Amino acid sequence: MIKVLFVCLGNICRSPMAEAVFKDLAEKNGLQEQIKTDSAGIGGWHIGSPPHEGTQEILRRKGISFEGMLARQVCEQDLADFDYVIAMDAENIGHLRSMAGFKKAPRLGRLLDYVKESDAADVPDPYYTGNFNEVYQLVESGCRNLLESIRKEQNL
Ligand code: 4NP
Repeated sequence: MIKVLFVCLGNICRSPMAEAVFKDLAEKNGLQEQIKTDSAGIGGWHIGSPPHEGTQEILRRKGISFEGMLARQVCEQDLADFDYVIAMDAENIGHLRSMAGFKKAPRLGRLLDYVKESDAADVPDPYYTGNFNEVYQLVESGCRNLLESIRKEQNL
């Protein structure tokens, strides 16, 4: 079982969107038994909350389930438990690196590292920009390429 964790700041906008999109792609590729997907936030302000209305709206429009998804805060144990920890921006990566300290970290990367043609390195935060469509496009490309990359690396 390969475990993938998406991380953003609040775990209500970007990372739950990525979790839902990635799970949907894994299912469509028949990999739901081989890949476990979760998401978490650097901050704990929204613990227990469902995804932001903007994320819910776009996922509903695309026919992607977010059933049962509730925000949680990332913890040190996650860095030991997950094989891939995929952050949305440089700030998230900074926090995760300092949390990991000198211990062996999992494969820690940014989602847009997987989108070579993207000018952006960070997924912009729609909590502040209000642009959930732009985020969806980036998240969708990132998730597609990430899945392809994991399939190759893990022979799935
Ligand atoms: P996210 O967006 O990191 O994409 O979930 C945010 C959500 C909430 C806050 C910041 C960013 N906040 O400060 O409450």
